[in-house]
Formats: sequence, C-alpha cells, structure tokens
Amino acid sequence: MGFSEKQESLVKESWEVMKQNVPELSLRFFTLILEIAPAAKNMFSFLQNTDEIPQNNPKFKAHAVKVFKMTCESAIQLREREKVVVADTTLKWLGAIHLQKGVINPHFEVVKEALLRTVKEAMGDKWSEEMNGAWAQAYDLLAIAIQDEMKAEA
Ligand code: HEM
Repeated sequence: MGFSEKQESLVKESWEVMKQNVPELSLRFFTLILEIAPAAKNMFSFLQNTDEIPQNNPKFKAHAVKVFKMTCESAIQLREREKVVVADTTLKWLGAIHLQKGVINPHFEVVKEALLRTVKEAMGDKWSEEMNGAWAQAYDLLAIAIQDEMKAEA
C-alpha cells in the first residue's frame, strides 16, 4: 500500500511523544474540529446542550485518543499486513457507528485537518512535512476503509 518504514517510524515516534499529553491533545483536537466545522458539535451526544467543550469528559477524550491511536496502529499494520486493520474492533463496526451518528464523508476531511494541525502544534520543532505526509496518508487509508464500510452498510 506504499507506506514506507520511514513513514511508519515518523507516525510511531510522534504518537509516543503526543500520548504523554492526552488531555491537552484531545482538547485541542476537538476545539479544532469545532472551529473548522461547528455543525459537527451536534453529532457528539456528549457535546449537545453545552456551550463549551467539556475539559474532562471521558467520552470526548476517548474519541480523540481513538482517532490518533487507530491511525497510528493502522499505519503499523499497513506495512506488516499490507492492508488496513484496526485493533480491538472491526472496520464493519466503525462503519456502522459512524453511519448511525450521521457522519458523512466531508466530515472525515474536517477531522483530518484537525488531526494534522494537532500534530503540528504538539510536535513543534520536531514537526516536518514528511511527518505530516505520513499522518495524512495513514489517516486517509483508514478513513477510506471506514467510508467503504459505511457505503456497504447504507
Ligand atoms: C464514535 C473512531 C472519524 C464522529 C467513534 C468510535 C470510534 C471512532 C472507535 C466509538 C466510540 C468510542 O469508543 O469513543 C473514529 C476513527 C475515525 C473517526 C478511527 C477516523 C479515522 C470520525 C469523524 C466524525 C466522527 C470524521 C465526524 C465528525 C463520531 C461520533 C461518534 C463516533 C459522533 C459517536 C460518539 C458518541 O456520541 O458517543 N469513532 N472516528 N468520527 N465518531 Fe468517530
């Protein structure tokens, strides 16, 4: 699938750094999602009826971590197995839950943008175009796999 060893290590190494600061990372990630697409707010059950982003909401932290962690894990699987594989769950279930929540393909672009901006901010001096490209590609392949399941389910 054209994911290189270098790309894999860039994703892995940056996730190792970022995961040490999950509360801040997840807050920033969600803030960016809502800045780019305010309407996304209504999709998240835990954000409805609230004007601010709950700092310590466990569900909201969980989604942020999952997007990062799954993108990273799927990047590793890309090299080992040459296809998108997710840990702990199935692509079929991921497709079903997003379809049910009303997520549509353009939302994946919003989340991608927020993810890449979060990586850039979090990594500071250690950020590079190559690192950005590696995250972008790993995310795209995972997002396409989820979207395929959503299409199959719809
Ligand atoms: C739920 C992962 C993209 C919106 C979930 C869940 C997972 C997940 C694992 C199950 C709930 C949980 O355990 O937290 C991912 C991954 C994505 C992705 C890996 C991209 C590669 C998106 C996008 C949106 C979105 C683009 C739309 C902005 C949601 C919503 C839920 C959900 C609304 C239900 C949360 C709730 O209200 O309980 N996602 N997601 N996700 N996802 Fe995603």
